Amino acid sequence: MDYKKLIAELIDINGVSKDELYELITLSKDANNGDYALPCFKFAKTMRKSPALIAQELKNSVRQDDNIKIVEAVNGYLNFTIDKVAFAKRTLDEVLREGDSYGASDEGNGKTVCIDYSSVNIAKPFHIGHLLNTSIGASLYRTFNKLGYKTVGINHLGDWGTQFGKLISAYKRWGDKEDIEKRGVDGLLEIYVKFHEEAEKDESLNDEARRYFKNIEDGDEEALELFRWFKEITMKEVMKVYDRLHVSFDSYNGEAFYNDKMAPVLDELEEKGLLVLSEGAKVVKFDGDEMPPCLLVRQDGATLYATRDMAAAFYRKRNYDFYKSLYVVAYQQNLHFRQVFKVVEMMGYDWAKDMVHVAHGMVSLEEGAMSSRHGKVVFVKDVLDTAVKKALKVIEEKNPNLEGKEDIAEKVGVGAVVFAMLASGRIKDIVFDYDKVLAFEGETAPYVQYTYARCCSLIEKASIGDNVDYSALDDPSAHEIVKLISRLKDSYREAVRRYEPSVMVRHVIDLSKAFNKFYFESRIIGAEEGVKNARLLLVKATKQVIKNELELLGIECPEHM
Ligand code: ARG
Repeated sequence: MDYKKLIAELIDINGVSKDELYELITLSKDANNGDYALPCFKFAKTMRKSPALIAQELKNSVRQDDNIKIVEAVNGYLNFTIDKVAFAKRTLDEVLREGDSYGASDEGNGKTVCIDYSSVNIAKPFHIGHLLNTSIGASLYRTFNKLGYKTVGINHLGDWGTQFGKLISAYKRWGDKEDIEKRGVDGLLEIYVKFHEEAEKDESLNDEARRYFKNIEDGDEEALELFRWFKEITMKEVMKVYDRLHVSFDSYNGEAFYNDKMAPVLDELEEKGLLVLSEGAKVVKFDGDEMPPCLLVRQDGATLYATRDMAAAFYRKRNYDFYKSLYVVAYQQNLHFRQVFKVVEMMGYDWAKDMVHVAHGMVSLEEGAMSSRHGKVVFVKDVLDTAVKKALKVIEEKNPNLEGKEDIAEKVGVGAVVFAMLASGRIKDIVFDYDKVLAFEGETAPYVQYTYARCCSLIEKASIGDNVDYSALDDPSAHEIVKLISRLKDSYREAVRRYEPSVMVRHVIDLSKAFNKFYFESRIIGAEEGVKNARLLLVKATKQVIKNELELLGIECPEHM
């Protein structure tokens, strides 16, 4: 039910359309001002009256409706208080009828949204920076899907580049096959780090690495075999992390996939006169000094990251005919994406406007920055393990007899980390602190999960009878919950519109807070039958909405904690 629409229908102002009224009506921020308000300031000029007087006159002329209980004129606003009982009944009915699909819609009309996210680098560690990226991308993926879009999740693997030459060189010098087979990516990283240390002393190592990479490019069998092996080792490790995060992809076409797809794009750029020679390299220049040129072919003929992204842009358009193509990548790559999108636009393709760089910040642990070259890296796996271990410790202290402790600790620990990734606006840098994200107080996953478990245990303890006294939901704390519950879909829409899962985090936190306030203020199980039933229905609906929203954030909710 759209109250704004209803209210617009009840008001008549000469020369103002229902659509205009609809746009003007807002939600009241303060419960003392009712639920909705029409500000009358805009009409003052044409009507030549004070906003206060206009509001007063409108109050007398507004039509009555059963769903609106009170209309008041206050300081130039016309405030509407809805019939909270009818609203509560309708909202709870809807949530409980629709269950897991409450909040879903088909408004996306099956339009395709490509989402490039996670996009880890092979033979480099899956570090905590990529966790932010993975969490945001996966959440957008699920949310677009919920709203009826067709989503294509793409892991644009960083599986091409000189790091492979470096690894071959390192492997040949210090590598041990068995050891690496056994230790996986840890073993690879160790020799990779050693390579960088040694190369600082001996420049010639870098030349050697370049030669090995050239071997891969030229299709040398031995080099290719090592390349594939490194990739396999990395992916094995990465897939384990994805499993724990409940993340998957529709495509793993990474950079190497585009090796044979760049030539047509370069040809077209040449034909269109956009590719120019500059000191032996091929670049696209931009008007003015808006941006430095986009380098697409180096002097030695090698292609670059940007060249592969050009090919990928066309491949995606051709294969998926996207409505939007998103790139969830750190803001360090702002220039790169501005360049790539601009080049596509200069080629004359209007779908360039449908490509969006969904930029995000950096993550660090309190210890400081990380760089895979120097080994000061924070692995996602270690972060998850540490968080789970700490969660288990808390459970051991608070609830040692809990059944399935390990499983619950996994859900709480991993959930806490993912929640922390999504909680602040995506562009903000995050300094990660285990104790803060695992706290049961504050804006954390455990706080929301605990609220969920509280709902579950209430429902387990009592059965809900048919005699429901909805008027029990008229009080402010119950009404606040109903309002938040009714806005689940708005939360999804806003998250998708701004590519910002933190909107959903905010909403689920607000709901949890409202629920806990209600829980401490109201007697539920001990209340009189009709009241008890109404309150339990509210508990059940809250539980459902928390579950639905956490699912889109990628966070599991155990029934007991
Ligand atoms: N592998 C890159 C990195 O870690 C991110 C790739 C993002 N996607 C893209 N199409 N460029 O920095």
